[in-house]
Amino acid sequence: MSMTNRKQAFLEQIKADIVSNNICPDLAREATNLVMGDGNIDADVVFIGEAPGKKEDLSGLPFMGAAGKFLNEMLATIDLDRSDVYITNIVKYRPPNNRDPKISEKEAFWPYLVRQLDAIQPRVVVTLGRHSMEYFLPNQKIGDIHGQPSQIKFGETELTIVPLYHPAAALYNGGLRSTLVEDFNKLSKIIDFHKNEKENIKYGSKKTL
Ligand code: URA
Repeated sequence: MSMTNRKQAFLEQIKADIVSNNICPDLAREATNLVMGDGNIDADVVFIGEAPGKKEDLSGLPFMGAAGKFLNEMLATIDLDRSDVYITNIVKYRPPNNRDPKISEKEAFWPYLVRQLDAIQPRVVVTLGRHSMEYFLPNQKIGDIHGQPSQIKFGETELTIVPLYHPAAALYNGGLRSTLVEDFNKLSKIIDFHKNEKENIKYGSKKTL
């Protein structure tokens, strides 16, 4: 089995486990789809949002509505599209009326997000908004650390976490919009650094971020 097929099988198993372990039955009952993720499962970069909204629930794919369109635009500013990255959420079912996910819901889904990252093995994790940031960088404020990379130990691997504002927040706040554009430029440099690092490791030299 190829590496990609193995990852795909792991991801299918995680989805099946969410269903068979009856995670967040109140959300599941109301949801049309379990929204696992979209994009390239071999990507070095994973984006993590909050929870599906109406369009995501209906399509089964994350970031398909207005915030998703804006995220696609931001990706395009740094010459990326959704097929270059993987996109998911911390909570995989739509909360009713798009309310904020509850702590209990985020906690219930966290182990499955950990398994998803374990399957995909990214180098860089971009958190979109505070709901996913707080699990990787606890007790931090997005206003203080947005756009700044942090190295964390995640299981057996080192991950670079880049916390960004949620695109939905920037959509309705012009000031945040330019901040997000600047932060995407920083992100582009971080992604390039990791690409070069991979090459450097291949050729026997290693620099740090
Ligand atoms: N907002 C999110 O956080 N995730 C989505 O999938 C859509 C909107």
